[in-house]
Amino acid sequence: MLVLPDFPWNALVPAKNRAAEHPGGLVDLSVGSPVDPTPESVARALAAATDAHAYPTTNGTTGLREAVVRWYARRRSVTSLVPDGVIPTVGSKELVGLMPTLLGLREGDVVVHPEVAYPTYDIGARVVGATPFASDDPDAWPAATKLIWLNSPGNPSGRVDDRTYLRRAIARARELGAIIINDECYAQLVWNGGEAPSILDDEVTGGDLTGLLSAYSLSKQSNLAGYRAAFLAGDPRLIGEILEVRKHLGLIVPSPVQAAMVAALDDDAHVDAQFAVYRARRDTMVAAVTAAGFRIAHSEAGLYLWVTRGEPAFDTVNWFADRGILVAPGIFYGEAGANHVRIALTATDERIAEAARRLADAGVPAVQ
Ligand SMILES: Cc1ncc(COP(=O)(O)O)c(C=O)c1O
Repeated sequence: MLVLPDFPWNALVPAKNRAAEHPGGLVDLSVGSPVDPTPESVARALAAATDAHAYPTTNGTTGLREAVVRWYARRRSVTSLVPDGVIPTVGSKELVGLMPTLLGLREGDVVVHPEVAYPTYDIGARVVGATPFASDDPDAWPAATKLIWLNSPGNPSGRVDDRTYLRRAIARARELGAIIINDECYAQLVWNGGEAPSILDDEVTGGDLTGLLSAYSLSKQSNLAGYRAAFLAGDPRLIGEILEVRKHLGLIVPSPVQAAMVAALDDDAHVDAQFAVYRARRDTMVAAVTAAGFRIAHSEAGLYLWVTRGEPAFDTVNWFADRGILVAPGIFYGEAGANHVRIALTATDERIAEAARRLADAGVPAVQ
């Protein structure tokens, strides 16, 4: 049996049980699972595609790949992408976890990921016996590096990499002969008028996508986490090689989901509406958390606030749990997160307002 680290969320069960004792009920701000409805246009497209007797193609329908190309051009300033440079994935978590496997990496190879990071980059490296390496500094990436994960906007910190950094990371990846992927699933959730450039952005690449990939998911922007709808896009030669392996493994997006993805990608209105919903929740939580004495780091984009008051993460988790609020300890995301917690904005307006109320009474723990 493959031996992997303990699933981190198991360690949060005691805090969850404690928070659930709050008389006003649990406010769960730990996992970033969307709570708002799937857009009607997308649900209709799924329903219209339920006659799915034939096997879907692993590389997706032409219609889906063309919709992805249109979406990158319209929403991400990417005009050099072609339909052969696109492949749908069954959500992006499987892709992140399996990428070193698909690329044939093995012991001795290094997989770089951000210093505070979504844990699946590390797991994917371990699955093949490769070495995970947490570093944001391209000059520190070792000679044995074969795959580099960027994650901008980042989970958990909400940090955004600018074009200068992306160009520097790409230059270093090419020097090392490594593939570089930016996991961009929070790209449509950038606050305060900022922007989060794609790794495929025209100004970043100058039109040369060699060795570059962008991973994107519709889970967050379109409330489609339950559909498992995502894609990988970029260098068509690399996508072709990845396609061959995924065909052998049967990693195929169901055809009704492919149809739903086209509807989601062609409809900007629901993305903008969802953005406004999260912005209001974020404004409420920024004010409440700051007034309760926490400092918010980064969090320029994405679905989380990355907060600290300079104490070990589990102390802060327990402080929130005493008030019936569950947050995630930064240590889940690496040593660099040891004094932070991650607060998700994926709760209903009612629960967010309730969390803010409890934080306003912060002196008084309600769970004794
Ligand atoms: C950075 C990052 N990558 C990938 C994923 C996986 O998303 P999904 O599998 O829903 O596409 C998440 C989910 O939270 C994430 O935060």
